[in-house]
Amino acid sequence: MSAVKGKKVVIGITGGIAAYKAAEVVSALVKKGAQVKVIMTAHAMEFIKPLTLETLSGNPVYYDMFSRPGAWEIDHISLAKWADLLVVVPATANILGKVAHGIADDLLSTTIMATRAQVVFAPAMNTNMYTNPIVQENISFLKSKGYMFISPATGRLACGDYGEGKLADVQDILDAIEGYFSRKSDLKGLRILVTAGPTREYLDPIRFITNPSSGKMGYAIAAACAERGADVELVSGPVSISPPPGVRLHRVETAQEMFEKVMDIFPSCQMVFKAAAVGDYRPETCYPTKIKKDRDRLTVTLVKNPDILKELGKRKGSCILVGFAAETENIEEYAMKKMREKNLDFIVANDVTRQGAGFGKDTNEGLLITRQGEVINIPQMDKMEFAHRIIDEVIRRCPDLNQGSN
Ligand code: PMT
Repeated sequence: MSAVKGKKVVIGITGGIAAYKAAEVVSALVKKGAQVKVIMTAHAMEFIKPLTLETLSGNPVYYDMFSRPGAWEIDHISLAKWADLLVVVPATANILGKVAHGIADDLLSTTIMATRAQVVFAPAMNTNMYTNPIVQENISFLKSKGYMFISPATGRLACGDYGEGKLADVQDILDAIEGYFSRKSDLKGLRILVTAGPTREYLDPIRFITNPSSGKMGYAIAAACAERGADVELVSGPVSISPPPGVRLHRVETAQEMFEKVMDIFPSCQMVFKAAAVGDYRPETCYPTKIKKDRDRLTVTLVKNPDILKELGKRKGSCILVGFAAETENIEEYAMKKMREKNLDFIVANDVTRQGAGFGKDTNEGLLITRQGEVINIPQMDKMEFAHRIIDEVIRRCPDLNQGSN
């Protein structure tokens, strides 16, 4: 049975050429047994007629805050309360900007502001608009506040340009909706430790060796675990993104600090996702004051940092350990070697040379490898979806986990 059966889904449609695809989403959800109500913006109605959505959803289409003066219900409040999930498809730069800045000036934006339900955006727009730093900042901000995204695809856009910004496939949108309802609370009762971000290995008080990890992957894992009901401890190196709602954040800087914090928290956890990019080496000497450039040559000796994950592998007991491997060649082979050496249950192998994967990107792709040697290929998707996919695959193979019920 479909997980959406009986669920109440509000579909918000904004003004873009991909608006017609919202009709397919509505039709498929109704066929799966969901109750669907549609809100359209004024611009959306330039692209597709409300009658189409009314017919497909079997409900009146809502578009005007003031169209029903005689009705006792206030639409944006009643729709906000009614929804189990609100999906905006397509989501324009305009709606993302409005929500990110607290602007509520029409029925859709007020409903988004008023709802306690999860809101999911499926953006679609011209590639230059999508990659515009302002839009990207709004997306990052909304993600940090718990809004979910279904990343747009790359392809030929309606304007003739080629690039990122094409609405995700209707099937991907349906899978994300189905996934949301089937996942709810499946990690309830579990305490999960997630590490994220880079470490800093100091040469002097103001200089350090680090790497380009943004923390996005680890924060997405932490957010996904929290969404699914887990009690999440997030140990993070220095990053510029906000922690996801509902997780306990422990900030660290160096590999040694991360080691100590992780060892402290680990004994109470049933699962660990080790997405941090930990510095393997640190300078042997950290100068107490700023190093002066009075020498032509400066030799720095590096010494090995503790391998946090390897130590967890020694202490693991029944805890499920999921490592990450950032590789540039022989991805599968090197990742498997790390999994064996560190006594892991799973490892996620990222080819960080690929566009749209690895350090700093909003998307990721890679291989999830199990201890038994099974290799699951996870195609490119938004890091949040990637996180959910990893969790889905892991818990499917761990039936003894103390899971809560949906
Ligand atoms: O943060 P983002 O910008 O979103 O980028 C995501 C990412 C590319 C950083 C992430 O997906 C990733 O691949 N993280 C692991 C990077 C890494 O350090 O890989 P590694 O092959 O060096 O280490 C293997 C595993 O051992 C990792 O789980 C790492 O956390 C762990 N490790 C490594 C060294 C060390 N001293 N202690 C460790 O625990």
